[in-house]
Amino acid sequence: MKLLVTGGAGFIGSNFVHYILGKHREWKVVVLDKLTYAGNLKNLEPALQEGRCGFVQMDICDRGVLEQVQGCDAVVHFAAESHVDRSIEDASAFVRTNVDGTHNMVQACHQARVPRFLHVSTDEVYGSLGEEGQFTEESNLQPNSPYAATKAASDLIVLAYVRTHKFPAMVTRCSNNYGPYQFPEKFIPLMIAQAMAGQKLPVYGAGLNVRDWIHVSDHCSALDAVLQRGREGEVYNIGGGCELRNIDLAKRILRALDRPESLIQFVTDRPGHDLRYAINCEKTSRELDWAPAVQFDEGLAQTIHWYRDHQQWLDDLRSGQYRDYFQKHYVQRAKTFAQ
Ligand code: NAD
Ligand code: TYD
Repeated sequence: MKLLVTGGAGFIGSNFVHYILGKHREWKVVVLDKLTYAGNLKNLEPALQEGRCGFVQMDICDRGVLEQVQGCDAVVHFAAESHVDRSIEDASAFVRTNVDGTHNMVQACHQARVPRFLHVSTDEVYGSLGEEGQFTEESNLQPNSPYAATKAASDLIVLAYVRTHKFPAMVTRCSNNYGPYQFPEKFIPLMIAQAMAGQKLPVYGAGLNVRDWIHVSDHCSALDAVLQRGREGEVYNIGGGCELRNIDLAKRILRALDRPESLIQFVTDRPGHDLRYAINCEKTSRELDWAPAVQFDEGLAQTIHWYRDHQQWLDDLRSGQYRDYFQKHYVQRAKTFAQ
């Protein structure tokens, strides 16, 4: 099996590469990533050293992706602009990468007759819930943020190719992930990093918004299940079954790091802030015999431990040093890897 993973230098993509290489000893992976601010080759270091993982630095909007996907048994598509707050500041890169880039990948894979394409999407395409209910795969798409709107568009492009061209794709929609290698602009790593440094934890509004948290390793095991056993043209929801209010989560992190709650600072709310996400993943469990395995308390403790152990990783992000890493260490191309 030769997999091409787009966005594999980011948070979930790099965890997925480690998961896949650990689980399937005979598989090979090529990561295709532009290395935006969110891409960090250090995340892939153990895999790149081990020898079954190649890397090509490329934009998913580049026509050259056609050559890269040729001969692959499957493509798992993570590459995206992923942070809601950035999409509120300026959505241009989101439209370009998430919409145009996904279309370019789909078109190339269709042309190259790639046998399987897994599009990694988000529950945010469903919009926001009140205090009751859950998203199912049949819920309407009602994205609120520019980020979510571009992900919804990308889902529809993939599904349109399935209907129109019999493109062999599946779409997954997962809830909020946490775990190692997450860029500290997202809630959990930001709160951990701030608490570790004894600095204020910025909580939007009154902190009453609810997210459903899943450990990234459970997301990876679900993606592996969809890749191997998912039905073409289907959407699969993935969630951790752990709903928490932001304020309660911030307090838990402070407790775990033995820091005072006075570090919490309520700040101006995010415009259009979705109140609650909750995901029903019965279909995924039933069809693919999948269930999340990591208890939230345990996963959070491990994650905090990881960030404490990886202070240098955080410092490199802050200083921008991680960007030099590629030039110094990995100027190899996927083509040479594939030969
Ligand atoms: P991330 O921001 O950590 O990583 C994104 C990766 O994509 C980076 O390595 C970046 O360099 C790369 N990339 C961005 N633009 C690119 C381009 N034009 N060409 C090639 N590479 C490019 O994101 P993440 O949190 O790991 O999310 C990965 C995927 O999972 C995204 O599609 C996201 O929508 C989806 N998702 C994320 C979550 C979550 O909680 N983080 C939940 C559900 C779904
Ligand atoms: P985030 O990690 O950005 O994920 P998403 O918005 O995609 O769910 O944010 C998770 C929740 O935390 C969301 O309700 C917004 C909130 N939040 C804060 O309160 N403070 C922050 O500094 C950030 C980044 C997020």
